[in-house]
Amino acid sequence: MRQTPSKLYHMGTLTNKRIVLGITGGIAAYKSAELVRRLRDAGADVRVVMTQAATEFITPLTMQAVSGNPVHSHLLDADAESGMSHIELARWADTALVAPASANFIAKMAHGRADDLLSTLCLATEGQVALAPAMNQQMWLNLATQENVGTLKRHGIRIFGPAAGAQACGETGPGRMLEPVEIVSLTTQLFSTGTLAGLRVLVTAGPTWEVIDPVRGITNRSSGRMGYAVAEAAAEAGAKVTLVSGPTALDAPQRVTTIRVSSALEMFDSVHAHIEGVDIFIGVAAVSDYRPASAASQKIKKHADTLTLELVKNPDILKSVAALSPAPFTVGFAAETENLETHAREKLIDKHIDLVAINDVSETDIGFDTEDNRLLLIDRHGKSELPRQHKSQLARALIQYVAERYHAKRAAQDSRPARR
Ligand SMILES: Cc1cc2nc3c(=O)[nH]c(=O)nc-3n(C[C@H](O)[C@H](O)[C@H](O)COP(=O)(O)O)c2cc1C
Repeated sequence: MRQTPSKLYHMGTLTNKRIVLGITGGIAAYKSAELVRRLRDAGADVRVVMTQAATEFITPLTMQAVSGNPVHSHLLDADAESGMSHIELARWADTALVAPASANFIAKMAHGRADDLLSTLCLATEGQVALAPAMNQQMWLNLATQENVGTLKRHGIRIFGPAAGAQACGETGPGRMLEPVEIVSLTTQLFSTGTLAGLRVLVTAGPTWEVIDPVRGITNRSSGRMGYAVAEAAAEAGAKVTLVSGPTALDAPQRVTTIRVSSALEMFDSVHAHIEGVDIFIGVAAVSDYRPASAASQKIKKHADTLTLELVKNPDILKSVAALSPAPFTVGFAAETENLETHAREKLIDKHIDLVAINDVSETDIGFDTEDNRLLLIDRHGKSELPRQHKSQLARALIQYVAERYHAKRAAQDSRPARR
């Protein structure tokens, strides 16, 4: 029995996912407009790339209107290259989804050809490539097509469908493109890695706000984006995630229990109220090291020429979590402007944490309040670099790394002989 559309996917399951939708020349291209709408309903940011043949079946104008972004179709286009080039599009994409995928396009991909924009970017992207074939049943059953599909599967390309049934050409058989809701559901599954399945993860994010008086406070430039992306990536990896967030302008991530706090003390209390049973703690929040010794109950007036604020130290949330017994696998973020590695190693040893992720905030165009970031990861075994990329992609790479380290630590603990 076919599932009803509402059971197939849920709103928001593609939040922050960047999808290049490729359209090739087939009758099913008329369904691509609905597919874009459904991908966007699920939260995805969609850019459409059309082959020349596809533009004969559905107009770029329609696709521009439904996607809300300019449509790309030429490889050798000086304007496009100065705006978003094929390489930028390939880097931008979390996933390149080609629907419908023609027999011709499948053949080209199987042989690594790159003679138009769509085939070139599918070759150039590091994101997952998925194809939803749509064609006449004889074209699908043709040995050449079947061999090409087999090659693509071996290359790690995902093939969605096709379904069998009545075709536009009047024949009946396999080759119909899956329905847009089914394609959205399968696309959502691309992001579910399962590497943290069954585990509990607690993430902190954002800045803290330390009250000076009713209208003023001490805070910092953290936007919360990195921590929210980490919480979301952990949820995608199958974990049950709690996010304790300082004040941010961001919407609560889907599938994550979000608790909003303001000051470092509130964040400390909230973390410790939710830490029991947590397997992995990731402290991404930029917690204020100090707070005013006392908060003025009324707005401080501008009478004196100078004003001295006495600051007292806030508790160290990361250190306090790492000191628990048993302690979760603990990951700390450090925003540094100099001597990145030295400071990270000091933090690792001083706080007894498992992994430090360092953010180089000396560069003005990455780090705080930006879309992109890069991280240097340091643990007892050595260091590893996650290159500059969008924070949501970086968060997924970090979660992958954390999952590997967590499982390795558990395996090492389990293999130790039990003490008498
Ligand atoms: C009316 C019409 C319908 C077509 N439908 C399909 C189709 O559903 N699937 C397919 O693989 N090719 C179909 N073709 C053939 C492709 O359009 C043709 O192979 C084209 O070169 C594909 O180019 P592309 O892969 O660059 O988009 C159709 C052609 C015509 C004229």
